[in-house]
Amino acid sequence: MRVLGIETSCDETGVALYDTERGLMADALYSQVAMHAEFGGVVPELASRDHTRRLLPLIEQVLEEARLSRGELDAIAYTAGPGLVGALMVGAATAHGMARALGIPVLGVHHMEGHLLAPMLEDEPPAFPFVALLVSGGHTQLVEVKGLGRYRLLGESVDDAAGEAFDKAAKMLGLDYPGGPQVARLAERGDPGRFRFPRPMTDRPGLDFSFSGLKTHTLTAIRQLEAAAELDDPARADVARAFEEAVVDTLVIKCRRALDQTGLKRLVVAGGVSANLRLRERLEHECAKRSARAYYPRGRFCTDNGAMIAYVGAQRLLAGERDEIGVMKAVPRWP
Ligand code: KG4
Ligand code: ZN
Repeated sequence: MRVLGIETSCDETGVALYDTERGLMADALYSQVAMHAEFGGVVPELASRDHTRRLLPLIEQVLEEARLSRGELDAIAYTAGPGLVGALMVGAATAHGMARALGIPVLGVHHMEGHLLAPMLEDEPPAFPFVALLVSGGHTQLVEVKGLGRYRLLGESVDDAAGEAFDKAAKMLGLDYPGGPQVARLAERGDPGRFRFPRPMTDRPGLDFSFSGLKTHTLTAIRQLEAAAELDDPARADVARAFEEAVVDTLVIKCRRALDQTGLKRLVVAGGVSANLRLRERLEHECAKRSARAYYPRGRFCTDNGAMIAYVGAQRLLAGERDEIGVMKAVPRWP
């Protein structure tokens, strides 16, 4: 079965085609990052408008790449939430319109389930069960995954998501949006010993996270450097390094706990922050120590993309699911 996947929850327009027998046949992405950078963050109305401009040409591009006509599609999957409501509506309306015109099933997919199962698109996908660390701009969660749709939330952030913290730290350091990759790049040159920020919520049991306090520590360090007229490039790199180490160390400590608690030996790491190389390096080391294995999506499927939505749609279709055509789902907050 051939499933077209549509992702428009935030600032990337993603479209892909997944064949249940042959795997991923094509994927295309248009990133709005440059458009939003000027404003220091995503402007929801601009995001919706740009999705309307980009989506249909991307669908044509993917069909062409897969050498398929619309009539050969078996279902359409789209991100139904969580995300920006206007942006979600663009994908939902397009998916339902196409499904009605073609007389095929339509499925609204949870964006985080897309991230969660993105590593399934790789050559050596993880087998169930596994522990998943989902780290994106909107979520930080540890999930025990027993199978498709069989998810148990082990812990999550009580305030900012890890990616959101990276983006806020980037702003304080004068870096452009989206800040995560830029903080990581700057941190490479930093001295890990100059500042030490706390590892929030690691001194008590449990698998929840809190990243909002790291903002204050970052700001305090920057202000101190400013007051001493020492806020030069190397000093900013030292702050970025301390920040990254604090986030990464916290994530690693909680992953270790989640593996211990569940007794599982497979760890999936997905979502935008899973692109962070320092995080990967530390998790690899941790997994090696306990003969566990870490699984990640390829770089371009760490952040938002249509492939993960096409994949989840295909699995749910195989499981016999489908939505009522015309009942569009756009759920901004969806637990
Ligand atoms: O999954 P994603 O594309 O969108 C959401 O669903 O939120 O994640 C985007 C987030 C942003 O906060 C971005 O700064 C962060 O992932 N990010 C990174 C890196 N690459 C992306 N954070 C740290 N290090 C990176 N290399
Ligand atoms: Zn995402």
